[in-house]
Amino acid sequence: MEKFEKNMKAIVLHGGHGTRLRPLTHTGPKQLLPIANKPMSQYCIESIKETGINEIAIIVGGTGSSKVREYYGSGEKFGVSFTYIEQDKPKGIAHAIRLCKEFVNNEKFLVFLGDNIVQRSIADFTSNFKKSEFDATILLCEVDNPSRFGIAAIENNKITKILEKPKDPPSNLAVTGIYFLTPIIFDVIDNLKPSGRNELEITDALDILLEKNHNISFEMITDYWKDTGTPEDILNANRQVLEHICNQTCIVDESSITLSNSNWITPSIIGKNCKIDKSARIGPNASIGDNTIISSDVVIENSIIMSDCKIHGGLNIRDSIISANCHLHGNNKDKTKKIFLLGEGTKITL
Ligand code: G1P
Repeated sequence: MEKFEKNMKAIVLHGGHGTRLRPLTHTGPKQLLPIANKPMSQYCIESIKETGINEIAIIVGGTGSSKVREYYGSGEKFGVSFTYIEQDKPKGIAHAIRLCKEFVNNEKFLVFLGDNIVQRSIADFTSNFKKSEFDATILLCEVDNPSRFGIAAIENNKITKILEKPKDPPSNLAVTGIYFLTPIIFDVIDNLKPSGRNELEITDALDILLEKNHNISFEMITDYWKDTGTPEDILNANRQVLEHICNQTCIVDESSITLSNSNWITPSIIGKNCKIDKSARIGPNASIGDNTIISSDVVIENSIIMSDCKIHGGLNIRDSIISANCHLHGNNKDKTKKIFLLGEGTKITL
């Protein structure tokens, strides 16, 4: 059996195309899109920190990747230390992991995809893996749409096969984007062939480990897990996180001005320096970013409105994601429900 150092490190991925989230991802990586007013990858980083791991490599690449470095910096603000590693092209999760060989050195490590949201702490999973002799541990979660994920086949409580997005899934157990690995994986990745989507798949690497009789265990996520690949997924995660953090109240930053008569429906969150006018109705499940102005008679329900937006004219906004710096002017006579998916800086007058 290989012996690894006692410490563990972590890797958080911020690459990928984000195509299913366009136009939200035209100006930056999807992992920085806010859920309850915090970049989604910050939830991963907080989960990792909670496990006691504090050396984290952040893989960056693609549109607006400098925004990741700007936001996270050295890690000091977050109580951890970040090392940035560039991925020149989105060549897959396994490719991104391979770039971290020197960073990982001879330690066990945790890989967390920056677009995965979990509710429960991963501290127990981490300490189990640390103590174990497994070559890898994956976290599985039951899903309704198994063809969209990596899938594990299980027999007699053992993983027998791992497949990427199978057309004919052998189970509904999705391989979530949280992987506990050892440096053994690097040699496998070195010999990996690109998949049909021209990426080096971590699922293929894990399946080769299985074929070589390495010991891969699994644990189940039985509560909330979401891969936020689509706008609907992001709104779902926003609802879930708001429910978790709001505890029957609306969280309003004290620097924001909310005029009397504005109507708040929990759970909702309002950032800094916002101005919410009278008769506006916010919530349930609304996240409003910093410096946003919402005028009278606007309704915002089940939506994410990012920072520096201006919304006027009695708009009735539902199930929407509106990026930073958008200006929307409704037509006071038309109060029908509107659904928007808007990239940064969009200006609309109805
Ligand atoms: C990736 C992995 C897939 C895994 C999923 C979890 O999919 O390839 O095996 O189930 O993350 O988030 P992708 O987001 O690249 O489609």
